[in-house]
Amino acid sequence: SPCTSRFYFLLYILIWSTQGQDLVPPGPIYRAVGEKVLFITITSPQLSHIVTWNFMNKNIVTFNPPATEMVDPEYIGRVSLNKTSGALELSNLIMADSGVYTVTFTSTDSTSPQQGHISLQVFELVSDVALIGPEYILIEHNSAQFTCVGNGTVITTEWMKDNQILAPSTRFIFSADNRTLLINPIRRSDSGEYQCTLSNPVSSNTSNYRMTINYGPNVWIMGTKVVEKDSDVLLLCSSASRPAATVTWTVNGMSAGHSPLYVAESSNLSHSGEYICTAWNNVTGLTASAVHFLTVKGKLSPGAAAGIAAGVIVGVEVLIVILYSLITHFK
Ligand SMILES: *[C@@H]1O[C@H](CO)[C@@H](O)[C@H](O)[C@H]1NC(C)=O
Ligand SMILES: *[C@@H]1O[C@H](CO)[C@@H](O)[C@H](O)[C@H]1NC(C)=O
Ligand SMILES: *[C@@H]1O[C@H](CO)[C@@H](O)[C@H](O)[C@H]1NC(C)=O
Ligand SMILES: *[C@@H]1O[C@H](CO)[C@@H](O)[C@H](O)[C@H]1NC(C)=O
Ligand SMILES: *[C@@H]1O[C@H](CO)[C@@H](O)[C@H](O)[C@H]1NC(C)=O
Ligand SMILES: *[C@@H]1O[C@H](CO)[C@@H](O)[C@H](O)[C@H]1NC(C)=O
Repeated sequence: SPCTSRFYFLLYILIWSTQGQDLVPPGPIYRAVGEKVLFITITSPQLSHIVTWNFMNKNIVTFNPPATEMVDPEYIGRVSLNKTSGALELSNLIMADSGVYTVTFTSTDSTSPQQGHISLQVFELVSDVALIGPEYILIEHNSAQFTCVGNGTVITTEWMKDNQILAPSTRFIFSADNRTLLINPIRRSDSGEYQCTLSNPVSSNTSNYRMTINYGPNVWIMGTKVVEKDSDVLLLCSSASRPAATVTWTVNGMSAGHSPLYVAESSNLSHSGEYICTAWNNVTGLTASAVHFLTVKGKLSPGAAAGIAAGVIVGVEVLIVILYSLITHFK
């Protein structure tokens, strides 16, 4: 239980402190494979002190003044003891060097020995990280799986999308070790730059994947439903689609072009009727249509008509400008 483990932790600290933990600074120390570490001591041994360094009940080195130094055969060439300070340098670190090191200063008289403990953790550098994602074309409502692979000692795995940390949710499912991410189902808003970072206390490495989700089309028509005879007809077919959809107008059953903006100048009564815009997405393979009914009204009396026509023409020109700027904005 947390209470018991807390008790043992405190007991541990207590034992350490009564044993003279102050001989070395607090740890742990993190190093990469192949690097070296210097275990320093806070107090130096006295001239008569015997200095020993132990690792997991193995005696690495013992210095018995004035001149006797014994190094464990396994450590010859890898250790160097500073006889003045009692510090130990260990080079060419390997993973198996991880653990607790104990230094002891023993005096030749009967006073109790001084000790210090320091923990070392050795990691392989994280490298060659690759974020492996779908290589096929992604369509909204499908699923997408990602795996983060790499070399070295991996302690943490972190995922980001557009520089924001990705947290688990009903649609974002991580494996127990966080190395695999399943997005199910994918939405158009999931498009973006994905990143996974594998790390340990001495290194980290990152890889990216750009996800593009294809969707649509959804289609709708903007424009007036009633126009005066002789004025212009302007209709805009808008579609939400990735990639951009191919648009086709059908006016009263006749094919009428592929521009999103449908224009007929100086309308007459034959322009009344059914306007259909059909959008086709060549990647999703889907087609969608919207229908718009237009009525062209006969003119009012010539006097009234002139006044209204002037207003309508100005209005139409404003609408053209707005529609064109909308189109160029969305392209
Ligand atoms: C031994 O440690 C002392 C005190 O920290 C330092 O001045 C000296 O340079 C060290 N000697 C070697 C050989 O590193
Ligand atoms: C990741 O590792 C590769 C080689 O393993 C290296 O080329 C790249 O610079 C590293 N990237 C970072 C951000 O450390
Ligand atoms: C990981 O490292 C090993 C040896 O260090 C190498 O053989 C292997 O190709 C590396 N893996 C990747 C994915 O780079
Ligand atoms: C996986 O990531 C979550 C946070 O997204 C974290 O709480 C959890 O500890 C991680 N698990 C492992 C095994 O790293
Ligand atoms: C699909 O249409 C887009 C433009 O709408 C075009 O760039 C792309 O090349 C087309 N793809 C195929 C497979 O026809
Ligand atoms: C209506 O206008 C179209 C061209 O926009 C033209 O072909 C047609 O003849 C006109 N019909 C009448 C009745 O004027």
